[in-house]
Amino acid sequence: MAEMKDIILKKFAEVYGGEPGARAFFAPGRVNLIGEHTDYNGGHVFPCALTIGTYAVARKRTDRRLRFFSMNFEHLGVIESSLDDLKPSKDAGWTNYPKGVMWAFGEKGMEIPCGLDILLNGNIPNGSGLSSSASVEVVTGYILSEMFGLGVSNQDLALIGQFSENQFNGVNCGIMDQFAIAMGKKDNAIFLDTSDLSYEYAPIKLDGAKIVISCSNKKRGLGSSKYNERREECETALKQIQTGMGIDTLGDLSEEEFESAKMAITDEDCRKRARHAVYENQRTIQAVAALKANDIEKFGQLMNESHVSLRDDYEVTGEELDTLVEEAWKVEGVIGSRMTGAGFGGCTVSIVKDEAVDRFIQEVGSAYKATIGYEADFYVVEVGSGPCEL
Ligand code: GLA
Repeated sequence: MAEMKDIILKKFAEVYGGEPGARAFFAPGRVNLIGEHTDYNGGHVFPCALTIGTYAVARKRTDRRLRFFSMNFEHLGVIESSLDDLKPSKDAGWTNYPKGVMWAFGEKGMEIPCGLDILLNGNIPNGSGLSSSASVEVVTGYILSEMFGLGVSNQDLALIGQFSENQFNGVNCGIMDQFAIAMGKKDNAIFLDTSDLSYEYAPIKLDGAKIVISCSNKKRGLGSSKYNERREECETALKQIQTGMGIDTLGDLSEEEFESAKMAITDEDCRKRARHAVYENQRTIQAVAALKANDIEKFGQLMNESHVSLRDDYEVTGEELDTLVEEAWKVEGVIGSRMTGAGFGGCTVSIVKDEAVDRFIQEVGSAYKATIGYEADFYVVEVGSGPCEL
């Protein structure tokens, strides 16, 4: 991190000039271990922050201009805007994320008093589904809170990030990504109940095993519209099953309650989506209990079941993610493997015994190339902390 701080401060001075007042920050990416598509169904999730993420430098200006520069998109150069023009626009590209957070601060009654020069440099692989956009949102919120002395709690940074993503960027996401990033704790995953935001940290003690991310490199394309469609299907299912049951969310149902009431859901697809939401929530609760009991094999088995449910009931995997996971299951030394994040492309998460990691990358990598026609990328990741000033 110290080395990266020097790199980004130097680049910042090159792009914007070397006057004093520049401060450097970091916010992580995240991976979800289990509990997928449960966060907008009032269920549980179990993500963790990573040591990779978004580095940023910011300096206050004396006017109301905003200038943005990303070392990941250097060819775009400096993108300009103003605090008086906080509206989403196609031309604004990635700057819609930080602008959305600035807009959201204003909506929450925290006007930003002056413009900023901002530089970002992320080391989350592009389009991997490890939440680079939520990471940008949280680092922006953290910058605003720290530089203008607003004292926003990390939990509120998560909520503001989600609010901006929903209202400014039009993606109807749940709270998981921003929460995992803002509340991350080294070597711990977060067991979050999205119905009331109560949470508990659970140590990730993977003695003799590693978390391996396999990135499909599939372009996500229709991802966000399909995501919003799944949400609507769950809402339809909830409305129908809820009658007479006294529940607020699908996360309130046990498997047995769902099975006895499920025929109230008239559409078969909606019934399958709801079944995933209910069973995945219960799996997540069981998985955390297994981890606490040091039963990592059981944890892995629940990860595998999660993938099957996302493939068959939720239908958000696709050939690329299925190939990565099904090939992973064949490798000796793999404890569990599943898609992670929204799906429709993106990546998988696997828990792999230390001695099997090289073989895993080699075997899954070559089978993927042979089936899909292009390469997957692999990252052995570590569990990191939430946002900080460097
Ligand atoms: C995306 C969303 C999250 C969550 C996951 C699926 O990452 O941003 O809120 O819904 O998909 O679990």
